[in-house]
Amino acid sequence: MLAEAIQYGATRLVTPREFQPYIRSSVGLWSRAGRCRKAWAPHEENCKAFVREAIAGMRERRTAVVLGSGLLRDVPIEALAENFDTVVLVDLVHLAGVRIRLKAKRFRNVRLISRDLSGLEDARKGKPPEPLAFLRQVPYLDLVVSANILSQIGVGAKRRLDEEHNPRRTEILDALVRSHLDGLTSLPCKVALLTDTTYKVTDRSGKVLEEADLLCGVPAPEAKRRWIWPVAPYGELGRDIQAVHEVIAL
Ligand SMILES: C[S@@+](CC[C@H](N)C(=O)[O-])C[C@H]1O[C@@H](n2cnc3c(N)ncnc32)[C@H](O)[C@@H]1O
Repeated sequence: MLAEAIQYGATRLVTPREFQPYIRSSVGLWSRAGRCRKAWAPHEENCKAFVREAIAGMRERRTAVVLGSGLLRDVPIEALAENFDTVVLVDLVHLAGVRIRLKAKRFRNVRLISRDLSGLEDARKGKPPEPLAFLRQVPYLDLVVSANILSQIGVGAKRRLDEEHNPRRTEILDALVRSHLDGLTSLPCKVALLTDTTYKVTDRSGKVLEEADLLCGVPAPEAKRRWIWPVAPYGELGRDIQAVHEVIAL
C-alpha cells in the first residue's frame, strides 16, 4: 500500500493535469504486474522477442514509436534505445518508477508523451476517429509498436460509454478498434501489433465461467504468432478461478 501511495504521489507531480485521473489504474496495473510477475513472464518475453525480431530485419532505424508503452514490461526498451536514434513512448501515463528506470539507464534518446490514443472524444462528437493521425507528423518514422494497448482502448471506452448510457456505444467501440487497426495499416513504415483478443475466466476443471471479445466484435487480423496470457492466475481473482487472454502478434 505504501509503495502504491508513493508511486501515485510521485507520478502525480510529473503528469499533466488532464491525465492525472488515469494514474490510479496505472498504479493498479503495476501492483498486479508485480503480484503476477511469474505468470506474466512468458507473455512479456514473447512480446519483447517479437519486437526484437522486427528490429533485426530493419535497415533504417531512425525513429521508433511505442503506443501503450505503460510500464515497459512487454517492450524491449534496451533494444529500441540501442538501435534507434529516437524512441518515443506514448501512453496516458508513465509512472514515476518507469521514469526513474529510464533515467538510471541513461537513455538520452527516449522521449515520453502523455496522449489519449483512443479517439473517443471525436467519436462521441460524431466525428470519424483518427487517433493515430499524429504519427504522420513524426519525422523519419521507421517503426511503430502497438504494445498491448488495443484491447485496453476498448475496455476504457466501454466503461465511459456505459457510465453515460451512450446509445451509440456499439458503433463507437467498433469505430475505435477499427481506427487503431486502420491507422496502423496505413503507416508507411514497419509496424508490430501486439494485442490480446479474447478473455476467459475458467475454473480448475477448465469450465468457462465468463468470456469476452476484447476487440468489440471487430475481427482480429491474421496473426503471425499467438499465445495465452494468464492475466489473473489462480489466487488473483479467486482460489479456484483464473482469467486468461489470448494474445496475437503480427
Ligand atoms: C496492458 S497495458 C500495456 C502494457 C505496456 N505495453 C507495458 O509494457 O507495460 C495497456 C496500456 O495502455 C494504456 N492505455 C489504455 N488506454 C489508453 C489510451 N486511450 N491512450 C493511451 N494509452 C492507453 C494504459 O495506460 C496501459 O499502460
